[in-house]
Amino acid sequence: MSERLENTIALVTGASSGIGKATAIRLASAGAKVVLVARRIERLKELEQQIKNAGGEAFSVEADLTNANEAGEAIAKTIAKYGRLDTLVNAAGVMNNGATLDRTLDELEQMIAVNLSGLLYITRAALPHLIEAVATSPRKVVDVVNISSVAGRFATAGVAVYNATKFGVTAATEAWRQEFTRQSIRFSVVEPGAVDTELWDEDGWKVFNNLFGKVESLHASDIAEAVAFIVTNPRRVAINEIVVRPTDQA
Ligand SMILES: NC(=O)c1ccc[n+]([C@@H]2O[C@H](COP(=O)([O-])OP(=O)(O)OC[C@H]3O[C@@H](n4cnc5c(N)ncnc54)[C@H](OP(=O)(O)O)[C@@H]3O)[C@@H](O)[C@H]2O)c1
Repeated sequence: MSERLENTIALVTGASSGIGKATAIRLASAGAKVVLVARRIERLKELEQQIKNAGGEAFSVEADLTNANEAGEAIAKTIAKYGRLDTLVNAAGVMNNGATLDRTLDELEQMIAVNLSGLLYITRAALPHLIEAVATSPRKVVDVVNISSVAGRFATAGVAVYNATKFGVTAATEAWRQEFTRQSIRFSVVEPGAVDTELWDEDGWKVFNNLFGKVESLHASDIAEAVAFIVTNPRRVAINEIVVRPTDQA
């Protein structure tokens, strides 16, 4: 049975596009006040207005999450604005797949910087506030949902560094789950297959099509639905992991 999220604050990274954007809209419709985090502030402001027009509440924060100070500032601004943080959804990510020698070192390192280091910076900054929020939470529980990938379960040629980051996200999420479970923080991982978003460039699709052929891709809102399912469950129910693939993806 799902609960409403009124009187809770949800911060969504990667909210300027794709899965993060769809998740922010979905959590706002469930009653949460949403904090929108990404680099492209004009996109965040547009989404903020869209959420407000639909009767919700949103607040935009520009941050490059590869910078630990900016990640920390995003949390500080959230607390200054709303006084608490109940839900963190880590959706920011980049994917520069293809033959390792066809990608620059910068492109490869960027995946580590955003997908792993960025997620670490904002999660670590959020944790003291999440712990504090449990005590006054109307729902007596708080959530961290990390968007990993099917690429966090199976490694394939052409995906090496992305695989490394997503295996890392899945592993860290499970370790954090164990570490914080007695403090009523639910750590969960969502592992999508192909979702039609801006994440994909030509090389990315080439690698994917070679592996799986043409599939009917998921929509970002399909993943937002999985996140909403996780965070609206009552306190006693922890959904640790959800894999969502397109029906056609082997
Ligand atoms: N699409 C798929 O098929 C798929 C499948 C499995 C998993 N995933 C994962 O799902 C998550 C969301 O991806 P998506 O498909 O929604 O991609 P997307 O549409 O490209 O969105 C990526 C988001 O990450 C943000 N971002 C990138 N670099 C950033 C940085 N340095 N600092 C702050 N924000 C940054 C982008 O915002 P700015 O550019 O404005 O900063 C954007 O909002 C990613 O972790 C991705 O790995 C996606």
